[in-house]
Amino acid sequence: MDTKKIAIIGAGNVGSTLAYTLASKNICSHIVLKDIKQNLVKAMALDISQSANAAKSSTRVTYAQEGKDIEGCRLIVITAGLPRLPGMSRNDLLLTNAKILKEVMNEIKEYAPKAIVIVVSNPLDAMVYAALKVSGFPRNQIVGMAGILDSARMSHFILEKLGYGAGQIESSVMGGHGDDMVPLPNFSTVAGLALTEVLSDEDIEDIVEKTKNGGAQIVKYLEKGSAYYAPAHATSLMVEAILNDKKEIYPCAVMLEGEYGFNDIVSGVPVMLGKNGVEKVIELHLNQSQKELFARSVDSVQQLVDTLIENDFLNQ
Ligand code: LAC
Repeated sequence: MDTKKIAIIGAGNVGSTLAYTLASKNICSHIVLKDIKQNLVKAMALDISQSANAAKSSTRVTYAQEGKDIEGCRLIVITAGLPRLPGMSRNDLLLTNAKILKEVMNEIKEYAPKAIVIVVSNPLDAMVYAALKVSGFPRNQIVGMAGILDSARMSHFILEKLGYGAGQIESSVMGGHGDDMVPLPNFSTVAGLALTEVLSDEDIEDIVEKTKNGGAQIVKYLEKGSAYYAPAHATSLMVEAILNDKKEIYPCAVMLEGEYGFNDIVSGVPVMLGKNGVEKVIELHLNQSQKELFARSVDSVQQLVDTLIENDFLNQ
């Protein structure tokens, strides 16, 4: 196995921007882009490889013509699936994207069964759950990207309110990547200062609401897709943490096995990422209202999982 070779399945906006970001950062030895749209994937691989050459990055960027081309990958990112359109919730993508995800997971099982898998496709938490069930992989091997993105959005809205502190804001968001996500102002800081020191309760409440609606706001303006720069950058941090065994803590979607009082369901919680994927799940001390909001968010994901079960999507 090449320890710095990765594949990105899905060369749409998020997948190609991720490949571009990673190639520019010179983290991977080789990025294989894969997509069912052959002309698109060829164009993206050529353009991104040429940009890597312009940047004097040593990352090779190629495209896959068949499943076998992902052999030897240490890590695989799945962005394949339909994006949201205006008026759609992430949940509206459930059955279509679950079908695509299952095909992708079968290919990973066949050609790269040891790879750590980062799922980005929506509805995120349900897709991570489905990926685990259809592959039978252990929970450390499959992790979903969303908490870093939602936290970055929260930081943006804090900066927008404050007008200062850019680059010094640490935000924390837990729960599923959906309308019920749980921004955590009391775990968020500006240059180490508690949010309540620099903002009013009213402003903080507004930031929480804007964070929850952050993805939909961009979908509304774009009209034909969803955000990609922030999702791609957020994913690149996870790739870097895993490939370089950085043992960094990020909020990610992971299967809960008793943590926070939940079992056999995926939600966003702080985890430590290293060469084995999710190496530790961290339990924050939530207050009563946060516990209730987290439980509500978990319940929303459970409803999606129930739909997948009813539609017979989760068998291996
Ligand atoms: C978003 C999509 C990627 O939040 O879920 O922008």
